[in-house]
Amino acid sequence: MSSNFFEEQVLAVHHWTDRLFSFTTTRDPGFRFRTGEFTMIGLKVEGRPLLRAYSVVSPSWADTLEFFSIKVPNGPLTSRLQHINAGDKIIVGRKATGTLVLDNLLPGRNLYLLGTGTGLAPFLSVIRDPETYERFEKVVLVHGCRHVADLAYEDLITNELPAHEFLGEEIAGKLVYYPTVTREPFRHNGRITALLESGKLCADVGLKPLDAASDRVMICGSPAMMGDLRTLLASRGFEEGNSGEGGHFVIEKAFAER
Ligand code: A2P
Repeated sequence: MSSNFFEEQVLAVHHWTDRLFSFTTTRDPGFRFRTGEFTMIGLKVEGRPLLRAYSVVSPSWADTLEFFSIKVPNGPLTSRLQHINAGDKIIVGRKATGTLVLDNLLPGRNLYLLGTGTGLAPFLSVIRDPETYERFEKVVLVHGCRHVADLAYEDLITNELPAHEFLGEEIAGKLVYYPTVTREPFRHNGRITALLESGKLCADVGLKPLDAASDRVMICGSPAMMGDLRTLLASRGFEEGNSGEGGHFVIEKAFAER
């Protein structure tokens, strides 16, 4: 095995729907990442590493790693990866990187985490980092999906985290979860873009309309979703941040095999 990779053991696999699954693995103590980053992971196929970028779902303080994936029927990696079981080996790139990190945002009052589909993944790490709650008064996690069944991790977010031994109090007081579904009736319906444009999302969570003076935004989804949100935020005076300079918002593509 090349020294660019760690070999980890799969500990558990969870199938959310026929299109979505997640899994946990061991974590080499040498694997470091900043909350919100991604790394290359995959399988050895015919002796060669077959890798795709995956955001790390687990918090940086955890001693295991977790990843959230779609299943693409003919995807070179996910058509294989979806069949992994506890005890199997996967490979994990040593180097993590990415833009969805707190240091790329200017200080602010409210943090909006906007994810569609598997774009939720990096935010599951962000909402479990104590620093998120040191920096922001409110953290609004928005997950946009086609169907109710796609709202993975709802139980973790709404039940487990507020009861967490160390983070529970901060999370119960500051984290607002806003799932929205576009293709069947649900308590919140519509695309994230439409809900922000109309002001409904902010009103529903009891906050003032989006304002670059107080609000910071992290975005993770499809190229179309990212493009539309970038346009919306730019029209309201939000500036994009990156590793060179902090901004009002940061963007990353939800990594998906096609
Ligand atoms: P819709 O059902 O109206 O397409 P996908 O699985 O295709 O990535 O979609 C995940 C979620 O993201 C769906 O709810 C989808 O809504 C929504 N979505 C797709 N394109 C956009 C966009 N340009 N802006 C905001 N949300 C989008």
